Amino acid sequence: MEVKEHQKNFALTTPLYYVNDVPHIGSAYTTMAADAIARFKRLEENAVLLITGTDEHGQKIQRTAEEKGLSPQAQCDKIAASFDTLWQKLNIQYDRFSRTTAERHEAIVKEFFQRVWDNNDIYLAQKQGWYCVSCEEFKEERELVNGGYCPIHTNKKAEWRDEENYFFRLSKYQSQLEALYEKNPDFIQPSSRRKEVLNFVQQGLQDFSISRVNLDWGIEVPPDPKHTIYVWFDALLGYVTALLDPDDEPTLENALSRWWPINVHLIGKDILRFHAVYWPAMLMSAGVTPPEKVFGHGFLTKDGHKMGKSLGNTLDPIALVERYGADAVRYYFLREIEFGQDGDFNETRFVNVLNSDLANDFGNLLNRTLKMAKKYCNNETPNLKGEDIAEDHPLKQIGENLSDRVTLAYNNLSFSQACSEIIHLVSRSNKYIDEQAPWSLYKQGEQKQVEEVIYTVLESIRLSAYLLSPITPTLSTQIYQQIGFNVDFNNPTSFHQELSFQTHRCWGILPPLQLLGKAKPVFLRLELPEENPL
Ligand code: MSP
Repeated sequence: MEVKEHQKNFALTTPLYYVNDVPHIGSAYTTMAADAIARFKRLEENAVLLITGTDEHGQKIQRTAEEKGLSPQAQCDKIAASFDTLWQKLNIQYDRFSRTTAERHEAIVKEFFQRVWDNNDIYLAQKQGWYCVSCEEFKEERELVNGGYCPIHTNKKAEWRDEENYFFRLSKYQSQLEALYEKNPDFIQPSSRRKEVLNFVQQGLQDFSISRVNLDWGIEVPPDPKHTIYVWFDALLGYVTALLDPDDEPTLENALSRWWPINVHLIGKDILRFHAVYWPAMLMSAGVTPPEKVFGHGFLTKDGHKMGKSLGNTLDPIALVERYGADAVRYYFLREIEFGQDGDFNETRFVNVLNSDLANDFGNLLNRTLKMAKKYCNNETPNLKGEDIAEDHPLKQIGENLSDRVTLAYNNLSFSQACSEIIHLVSRSNKYIDEQAPWSLYKQGEQKQVEEVIYTVLESIRLSAYLLSPITPTLSTQIYQQIGFNVDFNNPTSFHQELSFQTHRCWGILPPLQLLGKAKPVFLRLELPEENPL
């Protein structure tokens, strides 16, 4: 893509998901959030790189493949494809899908390892400890629960390891990391997570092991091929490999030349330590600037309970999106849960939120306004401009700086705040129609007033659809098209041709006498099925 003068580069990542199992709702959650940010940044006409992918090495994957009678690579290919299927269904527009079994990735990992090695940050020592294969992480004995089980995977017993490993000198980076957190207070977000990390670091950092013996499914340690590189050391570098253009030679220099530093890594709170402590230290050791931000979101529960296979209450994201559609699923999770906090899925609540905000408030507003425009204004936008509307008009007042507030919310990853700002304008527009009763005004021959009502409401609908498009792109496209614009929010080139962000982010730009489309319901009321609850 050609980069225009005013364009900025914005690169962001989801975690690279393990391929031991098909995607769960937690992976879908982070990816929907990442896609919403990427879409917002593209709307602002930035050059954006959204990276997602899969983390394919390590013992967990090797064992799963063995249990299923597959080769590890066949297991990876199968599950990586199922992630891609889900991303298509959820309308995720990623730019790169990074797989850690890709050949180019191996070259990047080996070069990086060599840099860290040359910096004298890797040494051989004996490692003894409890290892959780599901986390792919050593645990302190005091962390284990129920006599030896992982605190996160409470049905998985930690395994004792006593082997020679290569270690990374994390302890050497204690003060540099502290300086990084101090100098960049926004590096770890939200602030509650920042505190967790600061506490952890203050207790004193210990070197961690970055190789395994007796494990083939991984990248060999260049100077000692009996060892394979620890899956986390390998996986974090998947973010770097993803930055290579398709024809690039796989070198660190090429990978880091355009998009680095990554602007934000979106992750769940359980993998914060890897991203906010180990990763920047590894980068410092290799002479690479750390990323700009790590955002650790909360955990999802279902009907108030922790989700888990063994608990038999997982929520299948494919079933969810097939039942309700991508926009509904995206809207629920981003609107209903404050990003950063834990949140819950409940199907009744899901149906209620969607019906209330998108079917009743937004969909109905568009429908009733278009019907009035047809009846009272020849199915065209009234012959008015934004500047004809008085400054103290109630919708203009909200609409005029709505984009500033919503932009701030998106930039802070406060999706629920962005949604509630937008829905506030929608609800106020419904109320305004009821107050004005244009059907009576029309009967009284007050055509000018009728036109003002219709113009200001249509313009508020347009702006709301525009600002909500990163979350509900298909719904926003339908709304825009019914208002007479030839725009598809799922096709960035189409909206850049038709709209400039500087224009369409403003209230009052709806052109006069624009032919309107046919009023068709854009969001049908959802029904809670009587059987097969999710
Ligand atoms: N492979 C590592 C990441 C490596 S990144 C270089 C990994 N993968 S994972 O598939 O196990 O987890 C992916 C993400 O799902 C994590 O961000 C994790 O926080 C998130 N979630 C797992 N369960 C979750 C919920 N119940 N709710 C929300 N997110 C959850 O970790």
